Amino acid sequence: MTGKKIIVAVDGHSSCGKSTLSQQLAAKLGYTYIDSGAMYRAVTLYALKNGLILSGKPDKNKLIAHLPSISITFRYNPAEQKSDTLLNGENVEKAIREPIVSNHVSPVAAIKEVRNAMVKIQQKLGRNKGIVMDGRDIGTVVYPHAELKIFMTASPDIRARRRYDELKNKGIEVTYDEIRQNVEQRDHIDQNRETSPLKKADDAVVLDNSHMTPDEQLQWAIKKVNEIITKDDY
Ligand code: DC
Repeated sequence: MTGKKIIVAVDGHSSCGKSTLSQQLAAKLGYTYIDSGAMYRAVTLYALKNGLILSGKPDKNKLIAHLPSISITFRYNPAEQKSDTLLNGENVEKAIREPIVSNHVSPVAAIKEVRNAMVKIQQKLGRNKGIVMDGRDIGTVVYPHAELKIFMTASPDIRARRRYDELKNKGIEVTYDEIRQNVEQRDHIDQNRETSPLKKADDAVVLDNSHMTPDEQLQWAIKKVNEIITKDDY
């Protein structure tokens, strides 16, 4: 690899392995990895803890009023070789992966003011480049000038199965049907929300990993990065 640093934006459907690929790619390149979904999850956890979600719906105005009191940061965890998410200084890495958060995060992430606040933090994190960030709007809104944009997808069945296995391995009790329903529900909300809906940037390359191993997709992404950083005019 050369010393030139780029921004890699990884977007796509939920549970298609964006974070696995992004983490491995960042480690390989010596870049920072940021999981932008963790930030929306942390805001959701805050809202749940502070009674700002009632009957499954966020109280939009109250949550907006609370935004200045919500600090989201990341701290590198050497044991896991990745960053933990901190909410107002507290490590919430495990709590934000619980189904209760997954089930409430989409309507929170659909609030324009929440997105504006998160995008500001995300843009700051990438100002020196050398970053791989995954999410839904990274190539379209957060870094529209990212040198490499990857749009990942896989079939809903395969994504639900992967998510189910991942949660089971972590000791979180769930059923496959519950997960499958959650995957479909989140796709629908992510793609149809008014602010920054999930869509492929025109200049993104598509990676359908339904039938790829994690190593195959990593090699695919490294090749894409190499094509960019070895270009004469880069
Ligand atoms: O990637 P994830 O499943 O952890 O994301 C959690 C939720 O946050 C999901 O409903 C989509 C939303 N999200 C978003 O709207 N924009 C991002 N950049 C990242 C995630």
